[in-house]
Amino acid sequence: MTMHRLFPTFVYSNALQKRGAKEFNRQLLKECRQLRHDDAAGRRWSAKNYPGGYTSYGSVHWLQRISPTFKALESKLGRHVKAFANAVEWDLEGRELNMTDCWININPKHVVHGLHLHPLSTLSGTYYVHVPAGTPGIKFEDPRLDRFMAAPPRKATAKRETRPWGTFPAAAGQLVLFESWLRHEVVPNLVDAERISVSFNYNWF
Ligand code: NI
Repeated sequence: MTMHRLFPTFVYSNALQKRGAKEFNRQLLKECRQLRHDDAAGRRWSAKNYPGGYTSYGSVHWLQRISPTFKALESKLGRHVKAFANAVEWDLEGRELNMTDCWININPKHVVHGLHLHPLSTLSGTYYVHVPAGTPGIKFEDPRLDRFMAAPPRKATAKRETRPWGTFPAAAGQLVLFESWLRHEVVPNLVDAERISVSFNYNWF
């Protein structure tokens, strides 16, 4: 017999670059902290929408257009985005898949980023800049979860591909890419240290 697997959900993870990640992250980290310091509007937005943490999502969400460092991040992401598009076998003929948004997330202790997706985007992802030991990864939810109704639970020993949630650990220098409709979250940070990441959206429309 053959058991077929239809409709896979693709999540891409990789190191951004083979060499020089530490130096690049040092510069990113400096700019992330500087922006939090300078961005009063973003801190106000975060107080309402990202309690305890800081994100520039509501204020400065096109960092690739204003900072050469974030522009460099966009360039470095290019080959990864291409690899994802190839794996998913997207036919991108006639239009370009372009970075539309790029923003910072700073999660100190107890900060959580609840389940969400990225509406109006095609491809989303996160690059990890500063990940102290024990800070959380990114957790994805099976997009068919609301149809499971009478489906039995999975065994505690179930493989990742058959579980309803899949968590990928965060590590400085690593990135994840996923289709923007895939719901995800960052569980509470229980460590007394800041986890810093840069998220981004690409659009094909
Ligand atoms: Ni997200």
